[in-house]
This record gives sequence, structure tokens and C-alpha cells, in this order.
Amino acid sequence: MVELQKDRITRGDFLSFGFIGAVMGAILTIPPAAFVLSPVIKTNVLGQSDVSQDWQMVGPIDDVPDGEPIVIEVDFPIDQIYGNNEVQEQFPDTQKSNEEFAVRSAIWLSWQDGQRPEELQGINGSLTQEQRQLAEENLNILSNICAHLGCPVRWVIVEGEGEFLCPCHGGIYDINGGYIGGPPPRGMFRYPVREVREDGNLYIRHEFDDEDGIPGLTTTRPHVV
Ligand code: FES
Repeated sequence: MVELQKDRITRGDFLSFGFIGAVMGAILTIPPAAFVLSPVIKTNVLGQSDVSQDWQMVGPIDDVPDGEPIVIEVDFPIDQIYGNNEVQEQFPDTQKSNEEFAVRSAIWLSWQDGQRPEELQGINGSLTQEQRQLAEENLNILSNICAHLGCPVRWVIVEGEGEFLCPCHGGIYDINGGYIGGPPPRGMFRYPVREVREDGNLYIRHEFDDEDGIPGLTTTRPHVV
């Protein structure tokens, strides 16, 4: 009995072991987790993203009809670290280029409340500065990723009224991406950085709005980008 008490672990020892264990656990867990979640961490924690911030063409605004949205796929290139010049110089055999990687995003385009402004009816040829600004202000440019858990939403007509419906848990949004019902904590994610050029083509950057929703539940990025 006396022998056993000689070797007993003191409270200080116990806390030290606990601390060392926690440090070891963090060392073993954080790097792999950071590797797997890298794009998310860069986007949400460091405020950066691997996805290119260059302008990407969506298409001609003349194709956006009255009354309903259209969906368009846009490829956003990924600027992977393998592709940067420094890495390429050091490891010339690393076969990576930006063209090989892209995030393909489906984007819903519509006019606000489904109504194309009169000044933009029948546009032909190059757009004036005023028309371009009007188009930028009146276009809904929405990610098709549901703001709840990331399922792709669909445009459906219910009793004559169109709405975006998420097939996973029944999230509903209006044509402007506004929240109507179901579990999503906010409206659909919007692309606020847009530019309509003289030739009538719409360009956007891979950035999302930070609409407020339910505190603690709202995310500032879609679950899938
Ligand atoms: S993922 Fe859309 S409602 Fe749940």
C-alpha cells in the first residue's frame, strides 16, 4: 500500500499529461483537417479563396426573359498553389495549371420581380452607361445552392405562381431569392459584384452577399461553392 502511494500521480502531473495530450491531439488533427477543409478555411477564416476573383462572363442580359429565371453554368477557375509560379519554378515536374481546375456553378438569372425595366426592352447594339447601370441594379444573380444545407434549388410553378423550391427539406424562395418558408436561415446567396458591359454581356466575380438571417445559423458562404 505504501509502495503504491509513492508512485501516485499528483494533480499537477495529471494536468500536465492532459495538456500534453491536448497539444499532441491538436498537432495530429489540425493539419489533416486543414488540408481537407483548405478552400473552406481560406474562404471563411482567412477571408481568401482559391477560387479566382477575376471577372467571369455569364452571358448576354438580353437572354434573361420576363417572368421567370434562367439557369446558366459558369466556370470559376481555381488558382491552386500548384499553379503558382514559385512552386512551378521549384518543382517544374508538378503538372498543374489553372485551366485544369474550376468550380462549375449554376446561377439563376432573372429580373427583379420578374420584370425587365422598360428602358431595357428591345435593346439592340451597344448599351449606354445608364442602361448598363440599370441592368446591374435590376438583375437577380443567385446561386442555386440552397442556403440551408446546400441542395440545388429548382424553379417550380405552384398554382400559377413561380418560386424556387429546394427538394431536400422544402425551402422556398421568391424570384428575387427572398426567403419564403422552410428551414433555410436566410434568402438565396446573391452575387453582388456584377458588371454589365457595353456589348450587353454580364460579368460577375465569385463573391457572395452577407445577408443577415437567423443569428448563429446564417452562413456567409454557400455550403458548396
Ligand atoms: S437543403 Fe434546402 S431546405 Fe434543406
